[in-house]
Amino acid sequence: MNIDISHFRQEVAKVRLSQAAFDELLSARNIVEAGIQGNRFDTNPAYINPLHSPSLSAELNNIRNMIDRETHVLILDGFQDDNLASFKFLVWTFGSLLGAPMVQNHLDHKVIEVYDRGGKSIEEGARYHQTRQGAYVHNDGVSDPLPIDYLILACGQKALLGGESILIDASAAYAELMAFPEILEELKCDFFFENRGMAENEELFKAPILSFSEEGIPLIRYFRVYIESAHLKAGIPLTCAQTEALNFLDTVLDQSTVQHRVLLEPGQLLISADNKFLHTRTHFIDKNAPCMEINDAERLSDLNRYMLRMWLRKP
Ligand SMILES: [Fe+2]
Repeated sequence: MNIDISHFRQEVAKVRLSQAAFDELLSARNIVEAGIQGNRFDTNPAYINPLHSPSLSAELNNIRNMIDRETHVLILDGFQDDNLASFKFLVWTFGSLLGAPMVQNHLDHKVIEVYDRGGKSIEEGARYHQTRQGAYVHNDGVSDPLPIDYLILACGQKALLGGESILIDASAAYAELMAFPEILEELKCDFFFENRGMAENEELFKAPILSFSEEGIPLIRYFRVYIESAHLKAGIPLTCAQTEALNFLDTVLDQSTVQHRVLLEPGQLLISADNKFLHTRTHFIDKNAPCMEINDAERLSDLNRYMLRMWLRKP
């Protein structure tokens, strides 16, 4: 199979909802917000009747089609908001209409706040979203055997410096590795993964790093630190051949030829097919000291780098 990688270097597609669709989204948000009654904002998914919200329904279908079959990644612009509470409801409403939200931690949260808590590092056991560390290229869908169809990263505020998102098309990485068939064969074999942060009881499962969709599109499941940790816990160290395969993969993922870089602005949502696009971010510096909790009444403009993350399955 030959894959032409020249097209991978195109800009990430930017789209925006029409005014009619955005107005329908705001109406749906008002209904979700009114029905919340003291629960967490991500408790009840939004609902729209396609007959009453025709513009939003059609545009959600277009976005799903782009992610499923066309670009596999896009930036959706226009979600600026004043305060954190209404931004959370807006992102939750949109996400829960695009797909079925997945649980992301042992507390059953379906939206995760991504910001630096100022605590442990990833190597010390923290999950990536609680730190300001960069550098690990990964997919999010490594803690659960089933893949994430739509990954949303919604930017409420950017950092003082840094914090670029780096996106890597799994097909481009695969094309680079085709010169090393024995490496590809190793990556198609099972590795151990762990369910870090997803449940009270730690569980390990096996899955290949490289697989293919029914259409033959390369799919990658990868987060090296989690894989190394899972192999340690399993008591089955990575073999020399496995370590070499990870080194080749890391080296390819580090090449500018396979990377897109975008700096998300407040109000922009990055949406991707998680197993077709790996991602990471660059290290960042915030304007204020880190804190563990952020009050919902805060203005977005006063925050440190702040993102909301959702994992969705096709509806
Ligand atoms: Fe991630």
